[in-house]
Amino acid sequence: MESEITKVTSHISHNETLIFERSRTGRIGYRLPPLDVEESPIDSIIPSRFRRDDDLEGVPEVSEVDVIRHFVRMSTWNYSIDLGMYPLGSCTMKYNSRLNERVARIAGFANLHPLADESDAQGALQVIYELQQDLAEITGLPGVSLQPAAGAHGEMTGVMIIRAYIDVRDGAGASAKRRTMLIPDSAHGTNPASAHLSGFSVKTIRSTKEGLTDLEHLRELCSHGEVAGLMLTNPNTLGLFEKNIKEICEIVHEAGGLVYMDGANMNALVGVARPGDMGVDVIHLNLHKTFSTPHGGGGPGCGPCCCTKELEPFLPVPRITRVGQEFKVDYGYPRSIGRVKAFFGNYGMMLRALSYIQTHGNDGLREATEAAVLNARYIAHGLATDYDKPFDAAPMHEVVFTDKRQSRKGVHTLDIAKRLIDYGFHPMTIYFPLIVQGAMLIEPTESVGHQELDQFIAAMRSIAREAVVDPELVLNAPHSTRIGRLDEAAAARKPVLRWKPLS
Ligand SMILES: Cc1ncc(COP(=O)(O)O)c(C=O)c1O
Repeated sequence: MESEITKVTSHISHNETLIFERSRTGRIGYRLPPLDVEESPIDSIIPSRFRRDDDLEGVPEVSEVDVIRHFVRMSTWNYSIDLGMYPLGSCTMKYNSRLNERVARIAGFANLHPLADESDAQGALQVIYELQQDLAEITGLPGVSLQPAAGAHGEMTGVMIIRAYIDVRDGAGASAKRRTMLIPDSAHGTNPASAHLSGFSVKTIRSTKEGLTDLEHLRELCSHGEVAGLMLTNPNTLGLFEKNIKEICEIVHEAGGLVYMDGANMNALVGVARPGDMGVDVIHLNLHKTFSTPHGGGGPGCGPCCCTKELEPFLPVPRITRVGQEFKVDYGYPRSIGRVKAFFGNYGMMLRALSYIQTHGNDGLREATEAAVLNARYIAHGLATDYDKPFDAAPMHEVVFTDKRQSRKGVHTLDIAKRLIDYGFHPMTIYFPLIVQGAMLIEPTESVGHQELDQFIAAMRSIAREAVVDPELVLNAPHSTRIGRLDEAAAARKPVLRWKPLS
């Protein structure tokens, strides 16, 4: 019996060998039929300068089945939204209907050449136009460009629009005097980066102890006549709705600045409230969060920029417009900041988003938003007795906790996140937002059901108990993974990305 078990386990460990270790000299994965034409010298096919014959040592020699098993095995080591909840705060890792993926793969769209003549691409242009219309309605901001390829890219586009507008409103070069972009200390790191890249210097607004923008500090920073604008995330990255948004917009407008809203958290507002109605001038959305398309994996994304009528002439070109029944690729905007992305942007994202919006409809979008907020509040309530919540206000679509209580036993946020893996959950976002010490930012999204929320809460509460009765268990987690804790600093600073033969 024992030898049987040994046989089985050795088979499993064999399965875990690297593809390089499976290599056997001379093993091949394919066989070509015998040559029935005259052999051409290799130099006539691929000139030697294009050939690489220096570094082939170590390339695995494996069969087809080895290759298939290697990749399939690795795919089973991955965690994904198709396996379970992905509560990464600020990332909106929600499950999206496969229908949207089918739509993005419709051959007529997927295979259309981006340089196809306008008359041959009417259907594709109509998709862009209709999505622009839908996003204008959702945000309450009529000017829309779908060109930006990510949230941060949308931010930069929006800030460039503000700059171009100020130069027209106040005279050429005026933006050189209005050089300040105000950004709350709770903002996503991409906000200051976008402002800086667009030629602004950043001044940071303090948050109040309630986690909201400090109006007094905002007033003070606005009093020097140099403010070009404010970049405000709403709900902010603490998961709280900036309830003073109208007053905030008024303060900035009175100071001659414009209000840019980071709309990456629109999952909490779609179908319920519109930034345009709050006084916002320009916003970006993350289609790859809020409107289908899985977030993560480094792209591709789509970060549309939506703005007021006043700012519309400055949007990137080409714009997609409609004249009668025809859709046009329109370059007729002399004040435009120009092109920010090749062709029309990441078109597949637009198809997914339009499919998402139109299949949900008005009521469905609102319902999704309400479920996202309800789920976060359910978690806020479920964990309130075991974890410290730094702000009293009811959260929107995500909730932040801290490790304040657990750290008294030497257990910190990182340990809690690692232990969560043993319970079968992907960890939450940790140590962000930066202004909350030991932050754990949890965003369940609307795609998580009641049962899974309860399981997550039970896991988190169990970890809180472990932190008291058996802290070592948490400190040494994860216990269920192939690899325990990595030296994360070394992994980031000195990554070893290449396998090398032993000697
Ligand atoms: C609040 C906020 N702003 C901006 C971004 C940047 O978006 P992206 O990663 O697409 O550049 C994110 C990313 O999730 C975000 O959460």
